[in-house]
Amino acid sequence: MLDILNTRTNPTASLAHLTDAQAVIEIHKLKQELQDKVVLLGHHYQQDDIIQFADFKGDSLQLAKDAAKLSNPYIIFCGVHFMAETADILTSNEQQVILPDLDAGCSMADMASINEVENAWYNIAAVTNDTVVPVTYVNCTASLKAFVGKNGGTICTSSNAKKVISWALNKGDKLLFFPDQHLGRNTCYELGVKLDEMVTYNPNLQNGGLTTEEIQKAKVILWYGYCSVHKGFHLEHIHQIRKSKPETQVIVHPECSFDVVQASDDNGSTAYIIDQVRKAPIGSSFAIGTEINLVNRLKQEMPDKEIISLSPYQCLCTTMYRVRPKWLYASLLSIKEDKPINIISVDPQIAKFAAIALERMLTI
Ligand code: 13P
Ligand code: SF4
Repeated sequence: MLDILNTRTNPTASLAHLTDAQAVIEIHKLKQELQDKVVLLGHHYQQDDIIQFADFKGDSLQLAKDAAKLSNPYIIFCGVHFMAETADILTSNEQQVILPDLDAGCSMADMASINEVENAWYNIAAVTNDTVVPVTYVNCTASLKAFVGKNGGTICTSSNAKKVISWALNKGDKLLFFPDQHLGRNTCYELGVKLDEMVTYNPNLQNGGLTTEEIQKAKVILWYGYCSVHKGFHLEHIHQIRKSKPETQVIVHPECSFDVVQASDDNGSTAYIIDQVRKAPIGSSFAIGTEINLVNRLKQEMPDKEIISLSPYQCLCTTMYRVRPKWLYASLLSIKEDKPINIISVDPQIAKFAAIALERMLTI
């Protein structure tokens, strides 16, 4: 079996014969065998056949906090690339973080590169003397985390966005928030920033598509990025639910657009959504605007509540979906054979400044 580890990082061809069901049986055995060496972290959007193996389940904030406390030599991160990078930054050099499928990225994180953000930073500085505080959503590459660390800013997750953005708004004259325009807009609005005090910076356009005056006047500059999964929830879905099931509570993730969040009854991180649904009395009814694997899991867990997805279409995160039992098995096997694959290793210089930003976040 070791041959599969020498062929490719994702040994597709050599594992072709292995069904998910067989891989699950093998994972149970290997996990038991490697229990002192390996710990598994799993994000709420993972599929059931993966999340069942997670020693720690959580939203982005919780998993970052969990990673920071671990001492096991190997951490297998069942989630997406930026989450594994965060875990690598928060753990020691002796520990190794493994992502079962290296192609498990995040389309939102891909919408802001370090070059684009640096350009925006210089464009903004060229037209204003205001103090600009840069804040990045944790869904971004490590180099952007380092950028905010170097430039007096910090990082937020959907759980702590209100606290972090409020800190940034008090610290400077302007906030530059990337990559998710929706989390930025929804949170700033909740904190009292008016819509006409926010502008959207599109790196594909000259000067972000903004005039000098627009940049000078803005309190908040939002990067144009978004989550393609949460973009699938629309105002019409809420109107539909209000008409057909008026007793249903609509709860959505703050990566949804402004009109959806405004029309919903509540919004919050994946951990918040889980908590609210669990706390609700038996017989409650929810339409949830977040990734379908989590919605389906809540539905199974609470048959005494009516739980549906806010959208009639499958809002599935295809990159989270890439983590399959085969790849988890291959990762565990590689550890057993002392030839670990798919190691996520952030450049030490980048990690140093990203760690400053993450620690700043954890103390806010
Ligand atoms: P949470 O931090 O709420 O788990 O969100 C992470 C994410 O990627 C949502 O799309
Ligand atoms: Fe990225 Fe959206 Fe998937 Fe979250 S759901 S990991 S933001 S693409």
